[in-house]
Amino acid sequence: MKVVRFHRYGDAGTLRVEEIEQPTPGPGQVIVQVAGTSFNPVDATIRAGHLRQVFPVTLPFTPGIDVAGTVTALGEGVTRFEPGDRVVGLLPMTVDGASAEYVAAPTEVLAAAPTTVPLADAAALPVTGLTAWQALFEHAAVQPGQRILVHGAGGAVGGYAVQLAVQAGATVVATAGPRNTDRVRGYGADVPGRDIDGVTGQFDAVLNFAPVPPEEMAALAGLVRDGGVLVTTATPGPQDDARGVRSSSVFVRADAEQLGTLVDRVDAGKLHIHVADRVGLDELPEVHARNDAGTLTGRTVIIP
Ligand SMILES: NC(=O)c1ccc[n+]([C@@H]2O[C@H](COP(=O)([O-])OP(=O)(O)OC[C@H]3O[C@@H](n4cnc5c(N)ncnc54)[C@H](OP(=O)(O)O)[C@@H]3O)[C@@H](O)[C@H]2O)c1
Repeated sequence: MKVVRFHRYGDAGTLRVEEIEQPTPGPGQVIVQVAGTSFNPVDATIRAGHLRQVFPVTLPFTPGIDVAGTVTALGEGVTRFEPGDRVVGLLPMTVDGASAEYVAAPTEVLAAAPTTVPLADAAALPVTGLTAWQALFEHAAVQPGQRILVHGAGGAVGGYAVQLAVQAGATVVATAGPRNTDRVRGYGADVPGRDIDGVTGQFDAVLNFAPVPPEEMAALAGLVRDGGVLVTTATPGPQDDARGVRSSSVFVRADAEQLGTLVDRVDAGKLHIHVADRVGLDELPEVHARNDAGTLTGRTVIIP
């Protein structure tokens, strides 16, 4: 089968398109014929070797933690799925990923795929949808009637966070660049602009999904009301103990039940999957290079 993988840590040039044997399913695993994976920034961080202490991988390594595809074979003990089932999932970070024609996946990370969108596009849901869900409902514990700020709502995680917060009954203010403003307003948020200068008032929770310098992170903490929370996905934000402002950092985990809920919302027409670009497997090195150059925007789906 065709695969894109790297034999040593390094820049995007280390990625190679190769032919290798198809994987066979271990106990509790299924083989998924990949309809799509999507590029996530962490794929490049792992490839560059920056996470080798936290996520030690065996080289050569195939990136791609999002998967959407069709089950073709079952490992020992698998009863939840059958060949032909269409699934989505967030794969473990340290095992070979879905930048390939086939991938071995543990069943506990998989949910039935949405039926109302192209199967490949569903690969733009697991990592970013679960991050948004866990940020909102586990870290911010959002409640109806609360006022929520989503910074970086033009991005993949932010777009889902806005939609889910509005559905939870929150009043949502979001920042997004001109390219994304109309889409994010369409999700039900008030969008004053891309930076926080135009944001007024205070918020029960501020969710940051934009790459911001420390002074902007401090300004975001200042927008949290007394007793509220600042939720981030990378460096934790500052706490303000005097005002009871908490800081909470998300590290996404696979959760098939939560993913199933996200899929149900997609099929109910309540959660929109935004795909910025669709490319073939051969173009994955170029996608990594564009990420590293800072010119990649939105979620790119890779179709073997
Ligand atoms: N910890 C975890 O488990 C986890 C999981 C998933 C993602 N993440 C991280 O979460 C972050 C968001 O992920 P994502 O996939 O949504 O990324 P993304 O699609 O690149 O979105 C980030 C958005 O931030 C906006 N932005 C960029 N620079 C900005 C600035 N200086 N001021 C204001 N807005 C700015 C951009 O919106 P416009 O284009 O509208 O300007 C961009 O689309 C990334 O850092 C990612 O690595 C962490």
